[in-house]
Amino acid sequence: MSRYLPDLEPIAREAGALLMSYFDQHIKIEYKGDVDLVTAADRASEKLIVERLQDKWPQHGIVGEEGTRSDTGAEYRWFVDPLDGTTNFAHGYPVFCISIALTRQDDQLEVGVLYDPTRDELFSAERGAGATLNGKPMHVSKITRLAESILGTGFPSHKRHKNPNIHFYQQLTLRSHGVRRAGSAALDLANVAAGRYDGFWEFNLNPWDTAAGVLIVQEAGGTVTRFDGAPFRLDSREVLASNSLIHEVLLENFREIFAGRGLEPLPSPVEYAKSRT
Ligand code: IPD
Ligand code: CA
Ligand code: CA
Repeated sequence: MSRYLPDLEPIAREAGALLMSYFDQHIKIEYKGDVDLVTAADRASEKLIVERLQDKWPQHGIVGEEGTRSDTGAEYRWFVDPLDGTTNFAHGYPVFCISIALTRQDDQLEVGVLYDPTRDELFSAERGAGATLNGKPMHVSKITRLAESILGTGFPSHKRHKNPNIHFYQQLTLRSHGVRRAGSAALDLANVAAGRYDGFWEFNLNPWDTAAGVLIVQEAGGTVTRFDGAPFRLDSREVLASNSLIHEVLLENFREIFAGRGLEPLPSPVEYAKSRT
């Protein structure tokens, strides 16, 4: 019997209901950076989750994306993303979720919950106990060939003009069934765990984006590393997740792309325009 999930899952669902009460309303967008958005829904959801966690586990620390920093030296720490996919949410695009994870000491992942209120899907995992989707066991896909895989990625909002991901996007698009860019890194990880994606990568993520999803992927039989194959850590920022079966080939592709070997050049729009009649 899980020590945490019976209390944690209702908190994620309650926060999901709160987000839905703001969704599709005319919601005021504020900016944390050039294109880094935040809304009243992000703040209200964090407030609710933090109150519930503090009530239930007062001795634990909490780190929340929207500013919560309580007892960050505690043995157990929660990482909370009260709304992952804020840009989607603010535009009325229904791809977003809540992400809550518990870590112990040196960032060992203990428990993770992701809730997508638009589809009423609750993804959960506890270390060593497997992963579930709405209470049913969940497993990664069985695809063994990159050429037959579907992948996900995301593009950072911070310093986006400095990020090389478009090259990875292009090369891996040409080498797979395609690469999706849905706008919620936490849900992307959940989709790897559920076998809907065979792999996912992203540069520049934060622990609140990744903590729950990484544990859920691992417990569903997947693998998560950095881009060079080193073990994932909460402060890694870069994340490469897969169904395990295509992990080695993805790492090989990353090595090649970083080295600039065997790249299909990006077609020139100028040449394309010239060739139009
Ligand atoms: C963002 C989403 C997005 C990813 C960004 C994240 P937020 O989180 O996960 O998919 O590309 O890097 O910051 O700001 O919506 O919580
Ligand atoms: Ca996020
Ligand atoms: Ca967020």
